Amino acid sequence: MSLQLKRQDLLKNGSYVGARWLTSESDISVLNPASGDEVARVADAAAHDVSSAIDCAATAFPSWAAKTAKERGQILRKWFDLVIAHKEDLARIMVAEQGKPMAEARAEIDYGASFIEWYSEEAKRAYGDVYPTTVEGGRMEAVKQPVGVCGAITPWNFPVAMITRKAAPALAAGCTMIVKPSELTPLSALALAELAEEAGVPQGVLNIVVSSDSAMVGQVFCNDARVRKLSFTGSTRVGKILMEQSAQDLKRLSMELGGNAPFIVFEDADIDAAVAGAVASKFRNAGQTCVCANRFYIHKTLYDEFAAKFSDAVSALRVGNGAEEGVEIGPLIEAKAIDKVHGLVSEAVEAGAYALCGGAVHDYGAQYYQPTVLTDVTQDMRIAREEIFGPVAPLFKFSTEDDVVAMANQTEYGLASYFYARDVGRVHRVAQALHSGIVCVNAGGFSTEVAPFGGVKHSGFGREASRYGLDEYLDLKYVFVADLNR
Ligand code: SIN
Repeated sequence: MSLQLKRQDLLKNGSYVGARWLTSESDISVLNPASGDEVARVADAAAHDVSSAIDCAATAFPSWAAKTAKERGQILRKWFDLVIAHKEDLARIMVAEQGKPMAEARAEIDYGASFIEWYSEEAKRAYGDVYPTTVEGGRMEAVKQPVGVCGAITPWNFPVAMITRKAAPALAAGCTMIVKPSELTPLSALALAELAEEAGVPQGVLNIVVSSDSAMVGQVFCNDARVRKLSFTGSTRVGKILMEQSAQDLKRLSMELGGNAPFIVFEDADIDAAVAGAVASKFRNAGQTCVCANRFYIHKTLYDEFAAKFSDAVSALRVGNGAEEGVEIGPLIEAKAIDKVHGLVSEAVEAGAYALCGGAVHDYGAQYYQPTVLTDVTQDMRIAREEIFGPVAPLFKFSTEDDVVAMANQTEYGLASYFYARDVGRVHRVAQALHSGIVCVNAGGFSTEVAPFGGVKHSGFGREASRYGLDEYLDLKYVFVADLNR
């Protein structure tokens, strides 16, 4: 059955370029991961469509940048209101193309909208500085100006929030943008564009190009000198390619890449709170987030109790089609994700790990994986090094604070880290010692529009959300005016 919405016209079937909806000779079939059914067909954009989106963004830039920050903020505020007003339709579109449970989809619309709201306010706060002059009769100031035309490449796991976290600060700053959403989840992006147009975002300011050829879109962005900034969320491998390709033009870059988050439970932790936090962190979006806990380090004195309680909680999670109310774990995005996750689990079990619960494909269907807890996992197993991106929690045992901090940091990634402890000295010591852009203490989630999100090491650089997210789209210009006393 086709997807039923209150506003059926939010379901679009082509890229949005210069306020026109494009058609094409070939289509992308958007599949529902819960059933394999086709949700919609969307025109597959070619290289010339991407170039024409850059033309539109370049043409729109001077007048958008010339608007007052207050005017841009007011348009963004209307976009926020429209996204919230259409939350239910947007959540249904998201569940149909991405598979996450309805409750999580609604939460993502709120989360995604929060970036638009935040930057509708922050637009007016792109403050510069005035410096005490060092030269008589001189004036020294720093002003912030929009970077220009920006490209964004966004993933399928958060089809709304990863777009608004880039587009809202870009537009607030006075930049124009071309977004390339994942070809697996283009419908949410296109619905957002429709609402942006209704909010008054002018022609060419926000463009969405849907293409099955991500490498081609990346190349067109990187090879066009008019694109002054590229913001990417996705794998570290692709991030490195985009960096290389952008070197020629020295484009500004923001890279939100992979993670391998440790989740540490110290001996002074509140164990029930830690279990609840572990479930929240690991099983959000069926484990398909860059900040999901990937390695659980449990102090030896709590290990058995934690493992038993955690396994009970995980076994109780309701797996099914995300469109059904009450489902907590939906399908994985595609068949190859199941192969990857099961490969990691099987290899660990062969090497001596034990599946306390789960460990196999779920009876609900071939694209569903059983929520899994593995014990007796060791640092040398592949599952300790790679981002699992699925509903699998490997448990490791540790004895001392120094050892566990060393193990937690023994990864090329550095996006998020979690730990549970009550001792105030330990809380501060460990938070300082962990090598990651985000540290979350005594909670299983931290994401918000008000605080900076981003990583270190191979998890990338640049920050999204918060006041720092606006700076990613602004150039700082120093203006020195001399001879003012004449
Ligand atoms: C991500 O997985 O990249 C985003 C998660 C979040 O924003 O909380």
